[in-house]
Amino acid sequence: MEFLNDLATYIRAGYPIINILSSEEDRAIDRLEDVLRRPELQKHPRELLIWSISRGFTTPDGRVVAGDESRLPEQSLALVAKRKGPALFLFKDFHPYLDEKKNAQNASLLIRLLRDLVPHLKGSLKTLVWLSPVQFIPPELEKDVTIVDMPLPAEAEYREILENIIQQVGNNPRVLVDLDEDAKDEIVKACQGLTRSEAENALAKALVSHEGLRREDVRAILGEKEQIIRKSGILEYTASVESFLSVGGLGNLKRWLAQRNEAFTQKARDFGLPNPRGVMLVGVPGCGKSLCAKAVAAEWEKPLLKFDLGRVFGSLVGESEERMRKALEVAEGVAPAVLWIDELEKGLSGIGGGGDGGVATRVFGNLLTWMVEKTRPVFVVATANDISRLPPELLRKGRIDEVFFVDLPTPRERAEILMIHLARRQRDSSEFDLRAIVDASDGFSGAELEELIIDALHAAFASAERRLTTAHLVDAARKLIPLSRSRRREIELLREWARTNARPAAIPPEEEGAQPPTDDASRRRQRRIDF
Ligand SMILES: Nc1ncnc2c1ncn2[C@@H]1O[C@H](COP(=O)(O)OP(=O)(O)O)[C@@H](O)[C@H]1O
Ligand SMILES: [Mg+2]
Repeated sequence: MEFLNDLATYIRAGYPIINILSSEEDRAIDRLEDVLRRPELQKHPRELLIWSISRGFTTPDGRVVAGDESRLPEQSLALVAKRKGPALFLFKDFHPYLDEKKNAQNASLLIRLLRDLVPHLKGSLKTLVWLSPVQFIPPELEKDVTIVDMPLPAEAEYREILENIIQQVGNNPRVLVDLDEDAKDEIVKACQGLTRSEAENALAKALVSHEGLRREDVRAILGEKEQIIRKSGILEYTASVESFLSVGGLGNLKRWLAQRNEAFTQKARDFGLPNPRGVMLVGVPGCGKSLCAKAVAAEWEKPLLKFDLGRVFGSLVGESEERMRKALEVAEGVAPAVLWIDELEKGLSGIGGGGDGGVATRVFGNLLTWMVEKTRPVFVVATANDISRLPPELLRKGRIDEVFFVDLPTPRERAEILMIHLARRQRDSSEFDLRAIVDASDGFSGAELEELIIDALHAAFASAERRLTTAHLVDAARKLIPLSRSRRREIELLREWARTNARPAAIPPEEEGAQPPTDDASRRRQRRIDF
């Protein structure tokens, strides 16, 4: 346990203030007690005192040590200074009092008191530990505070939770626990990403609902996890039904993605490959970026978590950090998973703008750090339409594996897209003169090709024969004005940028002929079209 080792080291080394980031108070206290029991800390056993504004100082088992006279934050610090002997003072939610915005009256007094206290702490085997779900450290104290992130339970801890629950109901004849080792493993896996109390709740709920535990409860636990994901307000669990079969063209990107699927496995780790980090899709609107994100998840059979950046920054300032932390934790808990950040530049528009720009920038920084440091296989698919509003640090190597440019479809790609959307509407593309439609739809995006088919269907439906013909399709194409016409300049700039900054998502026309059709294309297509 790296976390426990770190804590033990900091305490022994006389670090004055440690800030543990976690929303699990009880579990953090348990872990601290574990640390204090370690052999290397027995030379100077430390007592553990826990402070909260509601109770003052108590012992871990709830006995009041100093009640009323230590409830106020400034009183609590005086007690820390006075108390004799080695000790660890755990403060629940101390950070709001240090924030001038929340405690205009005496935040600065508290900061001063703390700065005065630091030398005393360093020389007296005493440590302050702040426990908070978010980080807030006044700049004056930055160099005296060490931050440690308490990770969610590891597999062994979930296992312990499960065994505890089984033991508790062991002598109850009414409760039936029917779990072999495999089933236990599955339940433990399903719990990943939940806090200890969430996992306990989920197990207890399954237990009382049918007076027992069995393999099928995995589903209930996963359902619980979905609930928690939804509650985070930032992540959306979507069941994607798209597959690469519904994506026309973009052969280079599809090939690259297909290669990455296997890279999540243990075999790939053993081979020496790192976990894939993610991909950035930049390009013209309506050309299949979002579609690809959905298709990847379905194709890889991984859950798709849609990450709403706008909502992170839209939420109350202090809350946004905690929400982001929680969301990323949950995403790692669900891993392997695909984390989809759609239209990234829009979500970031709050950065640097009005409101609390500092918080937004920091929260985005947290996201970037996470992208580099995450150890669980969470594959990020980010999309963007406008590169001028993208923060350059995002595209730096090491964060994202590759940047792809999704351009307007080539003629051959247009044919593929048309076939897909005709087939979706129960039309056999071999009955139409595809070449004529492709010629008439120069500059159309995938979305516009779909639109032209719908327009043509309307026209056909209104006609006497009620039969869709090539003429309807060509006519619809002529009437539609593609975005690329009015936005020619923008697209040119995007292409200019992409030439040096991104790989083309499409197979270049000069390679097209030589390229054997991709698997999905050959499965879908009976005839080879000769463009
Ligand atoms: N390459 C494509 N293949 C098939 N359909 C496409 C393609 N590109 C766009 N479409 C159609 O247009 C819709 C919108 O595309 P979308 O992926 O949302 O575009 P983007 O995210 O690039 O703006 C898709 O849902 C799909 O129906
Ligand atoms: Mg999109």
